[in-house]
Amino acid sequence: MTILNGKQIAAEIRSELKTRIDALRSQGKRAPKLGIVIVGHNPASETYVTNKIKACSEVGIDAVKIAFEDTISEKELLEEVAKLNADTTIDGFIVQLPLPSHIDEQVITSAIDYRKDVDGLTPENVGRAAKGLPCIVSATPRGIRELLHRYQITTDGKHIVVIGRSNIVGKPMASLLMQKHAQGNATVTLCHSHTGHLKDICRTADIIIVAAGHPNLLTADMVRDGATVIDVGITRVEDKTTEKGYRLCGDVNFDEVAPKCAYITPVPGGVGPMTIVSLLQNTLQAYGYSK
Ligand code: GUN
Repeated sequence: MTILNGKQIAAEIRSELKTRIDALRSQGKRAPKLGIVIVGHNPASETYVTNKIKACSEVGIDAVKIAFEDTISEKELLEEVAKLNADTTIDGFIVQLPLPSHIDEQVITSAIDYRKDVDGLTPENVGRAAKGLPCIVSATPRGIRELLHRYQITTDGKHIVVIGRSNIVGKPMASLLMQKHAQGNATVTLCHSHTGHLKDICRTADIIIVAAGHPNLLTADMVRDGATVIDVGITRVEDKTTEKGYRLCGDVNFDEVAPKCAYITPVPGGVGPMTIVSLLQNTLQAYGYSK
């Protein structure tokens, strides 16, 4: 069994990105710039945003945090999105999710200029991804594809079960893996909370990608020997024995599943760092569009 070290691979990619961005700078070009919009004070979101800004600074991407109180209206937030769309100094931006319940995520994410949509959430980017056209791919699916690629885990001809149908992970992940492409060509089954016979379906999978946000959902009896398991879950579970008062829990019961696997990602240190580094790659891609 091999543990897929997302932390290490992400560090390698950051180093590659830094080399590319240093080269841009030495040609007298400006650095790429990412905007990060955050609404309210969700502690997990604040941590993600801090980590994203830190990762940007490590590779030489300028990052600007644009924070609003959760009293902001949907209309006001739409106006802020329009300002960022028009701001020629910003190559790409994200609106950190979740948003407060009075703001419709679909309305906000759909208003982002697709060329600046470094989360790959606009209808234009989602549609282009589904058609196999060049686009900005949602960061977590991009990171998982890259992680598999760097460990030479092929998807061609494999049965891949994706658990979870979110717009940010499950749906774009399934869409990517089924494309007629060397890093696709998989037979994909997308499972969700209404799927019957989940265990039987999972047991036929070569690769299982779990993105349900449901701690310990995947247990050993659901995994065949030699499978590859990718855990996207990262739920904060109260734990008074830790300094922070919580620990991060994946969607996979790691201790019992890992011994059956050929490859498995840990939580933390698996998919999470790959998501952040993919956002950096997407920002560089958007920088290319803005030229
Ligand atoms: N919330 C959790 N993950 C993400 C992400 O990748 N992008 C955004 N915008 N919000 C998130």
